[in-house]
Amino acid sequence: MSYPVHRPRRLRKTELLRSLVRETRLSPSSFIYPLFVCPGSNVRTEVGSMPGVFQQSADKIVEDCREVEGLGIPGVILFGLPESKDPRGASSLQEDGIVQRAIEAIRRAKLNLLVITDVCLCEYTDHGHCGVIENGEVANDATLEILAEQSLSHARAGADIVAPSDMMDGRVAAIRNKLDENEFQDLPILSYAAKYCSGFYGPFREAADSAPQFGDRRSYQMDPANVREALKEAALDLEEGADMIMVKPALPYLDVITRVRQQFSVPVAAYNVSGEYAMVKAAAQKGWLDEKRVTLEILTGIQRAGADIILTYHAKAAAGWLRA
Ligand code: PBG
Repeated sequence: MSYPVHRPRRLRKTELLRSLVRETRLSPSSFIYPLFVCPGSNVRTEVGSMPGVFQQSADKIVEDCREVEGLGIPGVILFGLPESKDPRGASSLQEDGIVQRAIEAIRRAKLNLLVITDVCLCEYTDHGHCGVIENGEVANDATLEILAEQSLSHARAGADIVAPSDMMDGRVAAIRNKLDENEFQDLPILSYAAKYCSGFYGPFREAADSAPQFGDRRSYQMDPANVREALKEAALDLEEGADMIMVKPALPYLDVITRVRQQFSVPVAAYNVSGEYAMVKAAAQKGWLDEKRVTLEILTGIQRAGADIILTYHAKAAAGWLRA
């Protein structure tokens, strides 16, 4: 039976009806807000290609976290801009490192907020790659111990969740072992399981000052053309002990989010990355798109595709709109 018996428009007639039958309900409770921590105090520098996103010193980060908490957003993810960089990312391991100090400052403020840390080397190495370099290549196994030590250091500073984004093979196991050996057996790992080699990270590399100084990341981040490989990466990370898995970026990979969601029963996160944010902001500034409308549409789409958790620079604005 079809028209005229069936008229799908009946359920679209009023906002009350539409809201009653709505399948996807966006809520700030699934957002995570990314933050960039820099040295100093009272520093708040806007990132040119990401209007509304700032590099901030720890004191300002705490103020921002208070606002995030007030908006009903459950967590932040921290990225560090260290004072110094070297070939092995040593500054990422220091007890008084940039991220470690920020975590401690947030902890002191006693906010009801999850503090997630991005675990990677690219922000801390002078060459800008996510691992150490041996014979001109990013060396997998030599990188694992540093990532594990960095995770431990974040845990000691008070992180609630560590999120490795480097895409080295075996890093989840290395991190899990290190945390367990040091009595952090209850600290969850959110692994960037399917992280693609994407042009959409461009603005982030300005924000985090982490562009590779030679070559690219194609030998460790995934080829954008692959989805079966994403399922393999996710399966391996779960075997190694990941508690949650992430797909990144989000918009060009909605099918990957759906496939990962269908295949695994752990929470799935999606990272609505810097380039996706920058496109919306740029078009909105020109008056070409309605920022509120497209942002909520994009985030709804990411959730509808299957993401339980959405990391997004839109988190604060979207939370404000959803509450209004
Ligand atoms: C690497 C990392 C990157 C992002 C998050 N973690 C950049 C990269 O791999 O080059 C990108 C996030 C974004 O674009 O918003 N530590």
